[in-house]
Amino acid sequence: MKITIIGTGYVGLVTGTCLAECGNHVCCLDIDEAKVRSLRAGKCTIYEPGLEELIVQNSKAGRLTFTSDFNEAVDHGKILFICVGTPPKPDGSADLSGIEAASKSIAERMTEGKVVVIKSTVPVGTGDRIEKIMRPLTRHPVDLVSNPEFLKEGAAVSDFREPDRVVIGAVNDEAAELVRQLYLPFTPSNTPILLISRRAAEMCKYAANSYLAMRISFINEMANICERANVDIDEMKRGMALDRRIGSHFLYPGVGYGGSCFPKDVQALANVADRVGHEPAILKAVHETNEKQKRVFIDRVKGEFEGDIGGKSFAVWGVSFKARTDDIRESPALTIIDGLLEAGAKVIAYDPQGISNLKEIYKNRLSYATDAYGALAERDALLVLTDWDEFRSPDFDRIRAALKKPVIFDGRNLYNASWMRRNRFTYYSVGRPPVFCEREERARAAELADTLG
Ligand SMILES: NC(=O)c1ccc[n+]([C@@H]2O[C@H](COP(=O)([O-])OP(=O)(O)OC[C@H]3O[C@@H](n4cnc5c(N)ncnc54)[C@H](O)[C@@H]3O)[C@@H](O)[C@H]2O)c1
Repeated sequence: MKITIIGTGYVGLVTGTCLAECGNHVCCLDIDEAKVRSLRAGKCTIYEPGLEELIVQNSKAGRLTFTSDFNEAVDHGKILFICVGTPPKPDGSADLSGIEAASKSIAERMTEGKVVVIKSTVPVGTGDRIEKIMRPLTRHPVDLVSNPEFLKEGAAVSDFREPDRVVIGAVNDEAAELVRQLYLPFTPSNTPILLISRRAAEMCKYAANSYLAMRISFINEMANICERANVDIDEMKRGMALDRRIGSHFLYPGVGYGGSCFPKDVQALANVADRVGHEPAILKAVHETNEKQKRVFIDRVKGEFEGDIGGKSFAVWGVSFKARTDDIRESPALTIIDGLLEAGAKVIAYDPQGISNLKEIYKNRLSYATDAYGALAERDALLVLTDWDEFRSPDFDRIRAALKKPVIFDGRNLYNASWMRRNRFTYYSVGRPPVFCEREERARAAELADTLG
């Protein structure tokens, strides 16, 4: 099948490459010419495990090409996937200008009938609206299909190739069938391919992301209650999550969710609700709880230094919004870094993949380290903000030797509190009692002095 991808970012690049890998001929278009040049040279523009090798192999095999020429791209594909960004507008609604521009560019250049598939996450009714925009611009038939994408950054290639389900929303059965055929190589007999209404397909992507975000906000709320009630959230969670109706997935307390999807999708769905006349109380609470969670962490850091971190210096491990991606969009680490800088502190950051994106935003307002331990020397504390594997079992002796005082703020609950106590760290995590080694030792020494008179 000849396929065109419009918008070659995280979703478009993975979709195009995986479709090429199973024999399709795929032309990927992007308006960012630097991106296209880099991809043509076999250089992946994002960090995504396994992707670069597939791009190189399929480009060499002549099945995967990159262009910024709309004429070439529209001419190439029978099926065109729109994968451009749908960022939030200031009122939380989805900015659909990229989708509109892409669909107009397609309609104006069509010389035959096409199936246009919207893979970007869009509010319910977008398919209807885009169809209305395209129809007057072309005399050829356009079939507009919704096919939301559920991949996770960091595991995008495997998620695309082994989906839990494929959702196809179409008005025309033939167009739906054409798209279904494309997914057959990725869907063994037990993987459902749902053929549903276009509006239901659009809606289910927002609902799925909002539900997952809700689980994160829920467990963060439980963490805050547990802290005040002197309960260890890990123990509580085991008791809760072993219920088969609940399970343990997406119940990780931390610094809040981030990335280019959950924050914007929760708000965009709330905006849809407002538009259709429903008060989205849960969605609003999910968002507010998440915003609060980042501030709770900043306050915790300030609390250790009696409210004043002016002139203090902090090492930050992890800035990407989660492990195994270089994506720092809406990463909680950015809000926390901003909070530290605003309070007059200095920050040196290390991340295995996210530093060049971070530098583009912060330039010389931060210092950057090229390895984890290089960030630590003479800092007042270490903040761990992303759950990269390389942070899970660090050399605690090196950390202790490098920091001014052995203080760790763990925003991902990566470490064991008893271990931290045995190793005499002051250790803050989320939803678990803090460990105050120095203070405990001082208190014990004072008690002993009292007893001895
Ligand atoms: N990133 C994810 O994990 C993920 C997962 C599922 C769904 N989604 C959704 O998929 C969509 C794309 O997300 P992304 O993360 O891949 O975005 P992205 O920002 O990484 O990529 C979008 C690309 O589209 C290009 N572009 C913008 N306007 C264009 C136009 N008019 N014509 C051609 N190219 C254009 C941009 O240059 C960019 O390269 C969003 O709606 C997002 O919500 C993202």
